[in-house]
Amino acid sequence: MKPVKVGICGLGTVGGGTFNVLTRNKRDISARAGVEIDIIQVGTRRGNSACDLAQTAVATDIFEVVRNPEVDIVVELIGGTTVAKELVLEAIANGKQVVTANKALIAEHGNEIFARAAEQGVSVAFEAAVAGGIPIIKALREGLAGNRIEWLAGIINGTGNFILTEMRDKGRAFDDVLQEAQELGYAEADPTFDVEGIDAAHKLVILASLAFGMPLQFDKVFTEGISKIAPEDVAYAQELGYRIKHLGIAKQTAAGIELRVHPTMIPEKRLIANVDGVMNAVLVKGDAVGSTLYYGAGAGAEPTASAVVADIVDLARSLTVAFEHRVPALGFHPQGQNKSPNILPQSDVETAYYLRLLAEDRPGVLAQISTILADANISVEALIQKEPQQDAPQVPLILLTSRAIERQLMNAIEKIEALSVIHGEVTHIRVESLG
Ligand code: HSE
Repeated sequence: MKPVKVGICGLGTVGGGTFNVLTRNKRDISARAGVEIDIIQVGTRRGNSACDLAQTAVATDIFEVVRNPEVDIVVELIGGTTVAKELVLEAIANGKQVVTANKALIAEHGNEIFARAAEQGVSVAFEAAVAGGIPIIKALREGLAGNRIEWLAGIINGTGNFILTEMRDKGRAFDDVLQEAQELGYAEADPTFDVEGIDAAHKLVILASLAFGMPLQFDKVFTEGISKIAPEDVAYAQELGYRIKHLGIAKQTAAGIELRVHPTMIPEKRLIANVDGVMNAVLVKGDAVGSTLYYGAGAGAEPTASAVVADIVDLARSLTVAFEHRVPALGFHPQGQNKSPNILPQSDVETAYYLRLLAEDRPGVLAQISTILADANISVEALIQKEPQQDAPQVPLILLTSRAIERQLMNAIEKIEALSVIHGEVTHIRVESLG
């Protein structure tokens, strides 16, 4: 059988990792694919000091790779959504199979890309776009194919999880941890993508699209970052038996589909609450299988390369089948059975809440707060009030509420903030049991 020929575009962190893993494990990888896999060309301007390119043709123009008639599989690892999109569309037009780790590209332009790929009868594989080395795309596409997915919740940004973990365990400052994540190659080129939840939203929309068989709708994801999490909230969460994690949540409810990324308090007894550092985890609830948890490194050169290589192996296998017998696009694209899903606005989403407020320490204050909540049909499930510090006129009050529709909770918060006995803004963090 003719070897399958791979061209890699981009030799940064993930490109370098992919080159090295494919080169180092070539024998085993080819045996698993059932066909020899050769990297025949790399497109890179700067090279990568971690890679030995002595035996490999290098093009400084990455478009040479997609135009090379010898290349069967184009691996796009340049990132970004402009040149990368052009590159992928040209590769598809030239009849190449495509592998990409580019979550922004898939989340924002996937619908167009998959449509073009289907027209050309080629596949675009994107395992590495979500949760680095965890084979979560395969889990949804293959292992859980018999289920109706009810919901999924994931720690899908390693940088954010690393920051929250270091802040909790070592009391480190936010900026200092972020800088370390950048030095370790975990963070995005623009690290606000990590801390403001955009990166997680890109990944969530891909997972939701596969889970619920719907088009990618990045603009419908509600996104809130971690930059406002205060050390006292981390401490109070712990006191209440919870941890704060930055979660991406997708859920089918009777009212519609929820797509949201935000800091979330989850019971510390849940396995996912104990996923720390740069590690990622995705919890998926299927109607047949129940809860399943997938855990692993969500960023970094070789963990991400592991997912890229898995896709290369899949596509190489498909190339050993005659064209007319290939499964169109290998099911890598969303199945599309749910073409116009109703995505709920965040104001319609129902969760429980953690509230922290600063109140004057005098009789009747608690009664005023609980009256406002009761009027909105929200009950208080737990309450912490600390003794006032010496001479301090105000005390922090911590409340856990029952589940409530977000619009009603926000109205209640507005009324609480308007009370003369309440100082400053009311902090709110959504609470999920994930049971
Ligand atoms: N910046 C991303 C993260 C890299 O921290 O998870 C992997 O997508």
